[in-house]
Amino acid sequence: MKKLMEYMAEELSAAFEKAGYDPALGRVSVSNRPDLCEYQCNGAMAGAKRYKKAPFMIAEDVAAYLKDSRVFDKVEVVKPGFINLNTGADFLAEYLRGMDADPMLTATPAEKPETIIIDYGGPNVAKPLHVGHLRSAIIGESIKRIGRFLGHRVLGDVHLGDWGLQMGLIITELRHREPDLVYFDDSYSGEYPEEAPFTIGELEEIYPAASARSKEDEEYRNEALEATEQLQSGKPGYMALWNHIMRISVADLKKNYERLNVEFDLWKAESDAQPYIPDMVQRMKDEGYAYEDQGALVVDVREEGDTREIPPCMLLKSDGASLYTTTDLATIVERVKLYDPDEMLYVVDKRQDLHFEQVFRCARKTGLVKEDTRLTFLGFGTMNGKDGKPFKTREGGVMRLENLISDIESEMYQKIVENRGVKDKDAGETAKIVGLSAIKYGDLQNQATKDYVFDIDRFTSFEGNTGPYILYTIVRIKSILNRYTEEGGSFEGLSILPAINASHKNLMLSLTSFGQVVENAFAEKAPHKICAYIYEAANAFNSFYHETSILGQEDAEVKGSLIALLCLTRKVLETSIELLGFSAPDRM
Ligand code: ARG
Repeated sequence: MKKLMEYMAEELSAAFEKAGYDPALGRVSVSNRPDLCEYQCNGAMAGAKRYKKAPFMIAEDVAAYLKDSRVFDKVEVVKPGFINLNTGADFLAEYLRGMDADPMLTATPAEKPETIIIDYGGPNVAKPLHVGHLRSAIIGESIKRIGRFLGHRVLGDVHLGDWGLQMGLIITELRHREPDLVYFDDSYSGEYPEEAPFTIGELEEIYPAASARSKEDEEYRNEALEATEQLQSGKPGYMALWNHIMRISVADLKKNYERLNVEFDLWKAESDAQPYIPDMVQRMKDEGYAYEDQGALVVDVREEGDTREIPPCMLLKSDGASLYTTTDLATIVERVKLYDPDEMLYVVDKRQDLHFEQVFRCARKTGLVKEDTRLTFLGFGTMNGKDGKPFKTREGGVMRLENLISDIESEMYQKIVENRGVKDKDAGETAKIVGLSAIKYGDLQNQATKDYVFDIDRFTSFEGNTGPYILYTIVRIKSILNRYTEEGGSFEGLSILPAINASHKNLMLSLTSFGQVVENAFAEKAPHKICAYIYEAANAFNSFYHETSILGQEDAEVKGSLIALLCLTRKVLETSIELLGFSAPDRM
């Protein structure tokens, strides 16, 4: 469906042309003086020099051709030559009726749907999810949903970290603790037990213990490095342990992501890239890209004009073990082979930008991807505590994601019980739904690349630019609609009519931008644009609500039109939060 602004620009262009000027001058923008008008056109100013004419005169010439336009109620030329515009009330109502009937709510579906793989989440198996993984999950999930809404084929891949040193560390620690386990018996050739020799709780204790020890004990560290390499070469006992670790961790991760309303299409891992590594490395050698440097195999990725030092991309360590770069490169090979994507988007901590710069350059240089395949890095900033330092527990440790979520939920529970008097029965469920909105909106409202302060008090507030405020607005709409039906009202045959007051018109105008906002958010991979939009729309709704009697409206047609607008507002807000990755309860 055509955008409201397109209708306006068309009218303006046609008027410029009729008046004898370049139609390209007929651009329209949202007014920067909302007290004076809704939209404006500055084309006359731009044309003054070219036509050697005062802008005011050009504007007057143009305005003369807009007098009968139904798109505008007001066309006013002001000094030095702006054209101030207000949308036609009938036209706007008609536009919203069209929007109401459009499943895309004015967004234009992708002309050429693309296959896009989003690499997000990125947890490491056997390590608990911590807040650092939160941002990746939240941002990636939202971009995936926005892309899908616009008609792209978007695949979310969790890309588990399961092939690096942490696995060697766990194996080594286990061997020290329980050397008699059959997994460590090299002469064993039977089946390995089905049951894992550890629980998820134990696993989460083993890793930090091993990691701490490896920092002090060099021999231990070397053992872990060797174990890593042996795992990568498929040593049966280690593969069996790896299988246990994977099964247990993945089950636990799935539970956690479910709680976050985050869903992956692909549960692939670094290890899935292993089968592609030997051929890839061989080819890079054969084609002269890879060479040995102090025993390691590397590819140069420096480019002319580099303003910073880009070290060579390391393919294999001197012991033959693969690295983070190697699995990332081989994963690209796998993705090209299995999905032939137009784009691979990585939503990862921005501190990894050098790694991705190296990987992308290496992939391009060695021809792993087609020239027009986009490799994109969306690096996000750090989630900080109120002290401005990376978010920690009160004791100063790494905050586990589960605990963070529980903290928010109990905070939300208190607020809901205190403020709203929801029956205890559903307060717990409601606290979960609203708590998730607090976390996700609190994150997504920031431009992804920026650091932000995770402030539980602010994020859980029902007022201000928060998730709970948005949900509260939706709940308010739902409850008005409920009362309407309780009073015998029907949704049959309602029609959106011209605004009856200024806040009403303002709400109508605000709704019209949904489609453009979603398109921009996707093009710029910027869910925060949707947050800014729904905050504005929610504010517009609440002003309208305070200034307008809705259910008390005498005129049935007008009342019906207000109800129809409420339904559309609800649809816009609910679709928006769906794109952000959370939902609204029925009451709060
Ligand atoms: N597991 C990694 C980490 O915790 C993130 C993985 C990001 N994705 C990737 N393809 N490298 O740092």
